[in-house]
Amino acid sequence: MTTTLIQLAYLIAAVLFILGLRNLSSPKTASLGNVMSAVGMLIAIVATLLYQEVVDYGMVIAGILVGSVIGLVAARRVAMTDMPQMVALLNGFGGAASTLVAGAEVIGRISTDQPPTGVVPIAVVLSVLIGGITLTGSLVAFAKLQELMTGSPIQYPGQQFINAAIALGTLALCVLLVMSPLDVGLLAAVAGAALLLGVLLVIPIGGADMPVVIALLNSYSGLAACATGFVLDNSALVISGSLVGASGLILTKIMCDAMNRSLGNVLFGAFGAQTEQAVVGGEDQGTATAYTPLDAAVIFSNAQSVVVVPGYGMAVAQAQHAVRELTDSLAESGIEVNFAIHPVAGRMPGHMNVLLAEADVPYDRLIEMDEINPQFPETDVVLVLGANDVVNPAAREDESSPIYGMPVLEVDKATHVFVIKRSMNPGFAGIQNPLFFKDNTMMIFGDAKKVVIELNDAIKNY
Ligand code: TAP
Repeated sequence: MTTTLIQLAYLIAAVLFILGLRNLSSPKTASLGNVMSAVGMLIAIVATLLYQEVVDYGMVIAGILVGSVIGLVAARRVAMTDMPQMVALLNGFGGAASTLVAGAEVIGRISTDQPPTGVVPIAVVLSVLIGGITLTGSLVAFAKLQELMTGSPIQYPGQQFINAAIALGTLALCVLLVMSPLDVGLLAAVAGAALLLGVLLVIPIGGADMPVVIALLNSYSGLAACATGFVLDNSALVISGSLVGASGLILTKIMCDAMNRSLGNVLFGAFGAQTEQAVVGGEDQGTATAYTPLDAAVIFSNAQSVVVVPGYGMAVAQAQHAVRELTDSLAESGIEVNFAIHPVAGRMPGHMNVLLAEADVPYDRLIEMDEINPQFPETDVVLVLGANDVVNPAAREDESSPIYGMPVLEVDKATHVFVIKRSMNPGFAGIQNPLFFKDNTMMIFGDAKKVVIELNDAIKNY
């Protein structure tokens, strides 16, 4: 295959990646987007294999077979709630691949005594550095989410000073490696320092902030791949790496904005440590009133509009199928039912969308926060299903609240609000929720799935 044809194939692959990403931004076109990106990747891989004069096809096929089997088994067996860990591992392996490929390129050049020129030495250093940090950072994120290690932030005196000193030392090693790109000792030192930094940077971050860290590490894995693209002079890798890098950064920013926290606060704020100590705002807020599903059935049956607000508790209880059945029976009785989706409800991006899609809830019933908020004053009944922080009015009303300024679903403006949760315990942010004490709020205590099934039965028998 001629170089021109190869470059043309890479261009087609790049266009498919971009169109794929574009389509992934809407649930309606997401499947098509997935297929387009996969076809783009296939074209890029085939073109690369034909490009290389010396390719050991036996090794390539063996690699594809082993990787495919592991990937298939892992994807089929992993539970939806464990998806963040799986993504963390995949990011880590991406980082490792970049480091190994860049390292192999250097070692290959040593044997032919051909030092890299132009931007390549810088690209080698970036691949090894970012790839190494991504690998161990992702492994720590995986271990925290999988509860193989404590999810609490690990802190010690002088931590930030020590990290800054190691980072500066690593930077110095990087500069030396750029100047002597064929020095294997330096290469190993940069790789070792990067692996250490990955661990040190992620251990002080609380387990509950891991989704943001994973989005950031996903971005790093893209940047490492992009740098490797420069090392190999492969434009498809440069483009796909940049797309992953940019989209990971955008996702990280969306998540931070939706929590009203800066990236600096997530990375260096040790959030879990401060929230595990006490329930902030736990002082006397009035009395929360407990109701039964039977009581609720009366109000639901007389409603014309119902909005369900799912949260982390729905994921824990796996209540998505039960709630689909409930909303189907409400809709059959002529009640308008929608779902309000907060961007950081649950524990990973799109958590609620994925669960509700799994239960076949139609996409057009899922309404984003900005669109649904003005509709709450006209809503008869809101059902808060295992959500807490994302419906906390303190974010709007209480300047002393740690979540003040976080955009929330303004459910308290509806006529009636039912909150299903097991206790008065706080959510992720560790703060009490004044919503539970409002006059129009009725608490139904219990496991989300069990209560929703009981509520559905009560409404049917009403
Ligand atoms: P949370 O504020 O964490 O509240 C979840 C509530 O679910 C808890 O109060 C808990 O109360 C209840 N619950 C747990 N298991 C339950 C069960 N089996 N049945 C019924 N209720 C159950 O959740 P949220 O409102 O979805 O907010 C998400 C939080 O996570 C935000 O603070 C957000 O900033 C943070 N966060 C999100 C992300 C992403 S990307 N989604 C990433 C990092 C952090 P009980 O224990 O009383 O039942």
